[in-house]
Amino acid sequence: MGVLRRYKELLPVTPSTPDVNLEEGSTPLIPLPRVGARLGIQLYGKFEGCNPSGSFKDRGMVLAVAKALEEGKRALICASTGNTSASAAAYAASAGVPCFVLLPAGKVAMGKLAQALMYGATVIAVRGNFDRALELARAAAERAGLAMVNSVNPYRLIGQRTGAGEVCEALGERAPAGKGLRAPDWHAIPVGNAGNISAYWAGYQEYLKLGKIDKAPRMMGFQAAGAAPLVTGQPCPDPETVATAIRIGNPVSAHLARAAVQESGGEFNSVTDGEILSAQRLLASEGGVFAEPASCAPLAGLVKLKGLGKLPEGITVTMVLTGNGLKDPDTALSSLEQSGGARPIEIGDTEEELMRVLEGRR
Ligand code: F0G
Repeated sequence: MGVLRRYKELLPVTPSTPDVNLEEGSTPLIPLPRVGARLGIQLYGKFEGCNPSGSFKDRGMVLAVAKALEEGKRALICASTGNTSASAAAYAASAGVPCFVLLPAGKVAMGKLAQALMYGATVIAVRGNFDRALELARAAAERAGLAMVNSVNPYRLIGQRTGAGEVCEALGERAPAGKGLRAPDWHAIPVGNAGNISAYWAGYQEYLKLGKIDKAPRMMGFQAAGAAPLVTGQPCPDPETVATAIRIGNPVSAHLARAAVQESGGEFNSVTDGEILSAQRLLASEGGVFAEPASCAPLAGLVKLKGLGKLPEGITVTMVLTGNGLKDPDTALSSLEQSGGARPIEIGDTEEELMRVLEGRR
């Protein structure tokens, strides 16, 4: 069941809201026992890469697009570091409306670009960064009467709240008592435009108010060191990071994210590109989950905090693995290359050569 049907009680869905649906949401909360053991914690990954367009954006996009259609809008526009554009383009295709996406030229992972083009969006590569593309998209939406589906659209964050409830349900099922809902101790999440951390916090708050959980987690936001305005407290005019999804210097939801961290007793931290790529390899090779670089900033941060003696022993931590690793194979392959890691072993077509490899003789 997609997000609009599954959560109709929690969402502003009316009888006249079109039934937009790509069966998004209900993603797995994957236990990561080997990685958790290294860190001395109970670690889980909410694998949002299982959504239809391969990222968490689908949870909010479905609602934003449904409400845009309900309001009579006939075309969508967004700026994106890649995933929002893929998601918007997918729902536009499904609903049969045009979609315009503005991307920072040359700074979008190949899989995401291929998605937007395949879904049939008009892709506009802006010679400028994401922050500038977003300004342009907002101005154009206003001028041309298009539905703006970035997270400045309130329906996006309302839809994204649904992830928090799913985390609590899945943890509740695993709890020894085996019933009820349960929040993690820490909720670790990458922060770019700062919408998702704000949405998750709102989702946990909602469950707390409804009495479904008895405490909310500490919200731990992680940014890339080259694009860390929430850590430094200053907008970053020239953001740069290998985690292109979070290559953002002036997050629109910064105020909401700051409130989430403050109210929950959490923190913002930054991690280097090297730490992100090494966390990505760790998650894949010891967790069995391939997530894109931005999604691995939280794991990089947990490793770093562990090293600093700032990760409490035995706590339950959920990380949002925001996007699928298959979106950006180029970065993964060059990261393996640079770390002297795995690459294919080419052999001729004889059994003898194969046996030599299997027995470690070459
Ligand atoms: N992880 C991934 C994979 C993302 O694509 C994004 C944002 C984030 C984390 C950060 O989430 O912006 O809510 O703080 N991607 C946007 C995009 C900006 O255009 O696809 P946030």
